Amino acid sequence: MNYFERVSALKKDENAVILGIESSCDETAASVVVGGRKVLSNVIISSATEQAKYGGVVPEIASRAHTDAVSEAVRRAVSDAGLTFKDVTAVAVTYGAGLLGALLVGVSYAKALAFSLNVPLLGVSHIRGHMAAAYLADETLKPPFIMLLASGGHTAVIRVDTYTKTCVLGGTIDDAVGEAFDKVARVLSLPYPGGPNVERLAREGKNVVPLPKMLKNQGGYNFSYSGLKTAVINYTHTCEQKGENYSREDVACSFQHSAVDILCDKAIEACKEYSLNTIAAGGGVIANGYLREYLAEKCRNKSIKLVLPPKIMCTDNAAMIAAEGYIRYMNGDFSDMTLNAKASIPLTADAE
Ligand SMILES: Nc1ncnc2c1ncn2[C@@H]1O[C@H](COP(=O)(O)OP(=O)(O)OP(=O)(O)O)[C@@H](O)[C@H]1O
Ligand SMILES: [Mg+2]
Repeated sequence: MNYFERVSALKKDENAVILGIESSCDETAASVVVGGRKVLSNVIISSATEQAKYGGVVPEIASRAHTDAVSEAVRRAVSDAGLTFKDVTAVAVTYGAGLLGALLVGVSYAKALAFSLNVPLLGVSHIRGHMAAAYLADETLKPPFIMLLASGGHTAVIRVDTYTKTCVLGGTIDDAVGEAFDKVARVLSLPYPGGPNVERLAREGKNVVPLPKMLKNQGGYNFSYSGLKTAVINYTHTCEQKGENYSREDVACSFQHSAVDILCDKAIEACKEYSLNTIAAGGGVIANGYLREYLAEKCRNKSIKLVLPPKIMCTDNAAMIAAEGYIRYMNGDFSDMTLNAKASIPLTADAE
């Protein structure tokens, strides 16, 4: 029997111990999750400080940092969980989307580890991982529900019908919301990573700068962020050309309102249209404090249950990869040793 036949023949265990590995961008992460819901460890080694010197992620620096950190992250994840490698039921790894060189570090490591432990290898979509973080936040969460996905590269409203079946109701037609936060941060001379810094500045400002609410009351569940970013650039440049002072705090606050409100409003609308009473959210932008408050209040008013992962589970981590890996494991979607990294994959792609 070859490796794939051997692991496919193993009996499934509902309390499977999944070791997740994530290396799609600038975080080398490893985590152990039991039964798809309980996080035993969550190690994140970030190269963000190194990347900040260049104002963004440099792919080659990210790949090298993953190569240095991956063994330590995995070893710590297993020992923090109070386990040994013998206890691992399956290894889940992000195979895409992301930086190719960075992904290859995690995928190669996971392949070797799964082969040597003789356990299933689970190739996981990073975006499915962001969505699965909600299952870690609320052990009772079950489909169907509406998923609001808001990250650095993706923005979408998704109907989650079952653990494996989803329907994308709409998404961004240009920039992702996280990308818009990062670009506006640059306009306001804020350092990388942009999102949290825009949020911090926005706390000191008022929502008084007139900015467009792109695709409000139109475009179905689609979003558009490039016009909003351009409006911020035009506003600041016009003020500078006229020699007028403007408040960076007010620009940050007004941008945040325009970017966030529409996301939440469309997710609420989807709940109404599909008669669902739960919204779950995932992706780095869901760490935004203003978004969390705004969405929570809207959901309270409409008696909609809201599942927000803790902030550390919104940005890139490996617990979410292990959680999605568990779904793949229970579904028997095992990968073989031909698993390869992919820079881009469809929004809700299944396992490879
Ligand atoms: N507090 C915050 N407020 C707003 N945006 C935030 C906040 N924290 C993080 N972000 C944004 O979230 C993004 C990072 O999230 P995430 O890690 O999910 O993205 P990614 O992995 O780069 O992209 P993707 O997951 O789509 O492939 C960045 O664009 C960052 O600016
Ligand atoms: Mg991400």
